[in-house]
Amino acid sequence: SGEEGATLTTIESGKLIMSTNAQFPPYELVSDGEGYEGTGYEGIDVEIAYALAQKLGLELVIDDMDFDGALLAVQNGKSDMVMAGVTVNEERLVNMDFTDSYANGVQVVIVPEDSDIQTIEDLEGKKIGTQRGTTGYLYCSDTVENGGFGEENVVAYDDAIAATQALNNGQVDCVVIDSAPAQEYVKANPGLKILDTEFANEDYAIGVAKGNTALQDALNTALAELQADGTIQSIIDKYIPAE
Ligand code: ARG
Repeated sequence: SGEEGATLTTIESGKLIMSTNAQFPPYELVSDGEGYEGTGYEGIDVEIAYALAQKLGLELVIDDMDFDGALLAVQNGKSDMVMAGVTVNEERLVNMDFTDSYANGVQVVIVPEDSDIQTIEDLEGKKIGTQRGTTGYLYCSDTVENGGFGEENVVAYDDAIAATQALNNGQVDCVVIDSAPAQEYVKANPGLKILDTEFANEDYAIGVAKGNTALQDALNTALAELQADGTIQSIIDKYIPAE
């Protein structure tokens, strides 16, 4: 390993710049200490990215920003890849390419424990909190005819922490967000719970610039090796222990 790096062109020679939004535990979060391998960050994406960079013979550089900015960075040539629990969808495939999927995500609904919201249908007419630029926002803000709840009923926050805070303060009736971060936020905020019904099933993958097949192929080869030797599963198990 480390062979591929010799021929791989990245934005800054010898480096693999990853744009992310590190307000999304357990995928990426700012560390209290040095972080994983001194990166200052920890989480599933951080550890997988580090392992990928090693395989490619590149130094991992993490650039933390808002989620919508992290998606744009890869499109504007500011980062080599966006790794941020990014769901593959058709809109995004127009503007960027994706690697093979490395994890699954599920959109869930967080409500106060005493909420009258029991099913997805009950979200109708409620104020829904989301994180800006995410699939949770896209689904919920869609028209009723398309299965959404209307843009006027959805509030987009900078990140999941702000959305959860708004729910705690009663500014929204619920928050729609990915399941693994939802579990973490509910653990940290007594009085909240997650509805049993799932909103949507999704695949997470790494986004690269449209047409950057060299990097896409190199990442796919490295991902396949990390799948085959159990590295990816053990990273996921470390952060999401089986019940
Ligand atoms: N999976 C969702 C999406 O792709 C949310 C991802 C948010 N990630 C983050 N690091 N804040 O839209």
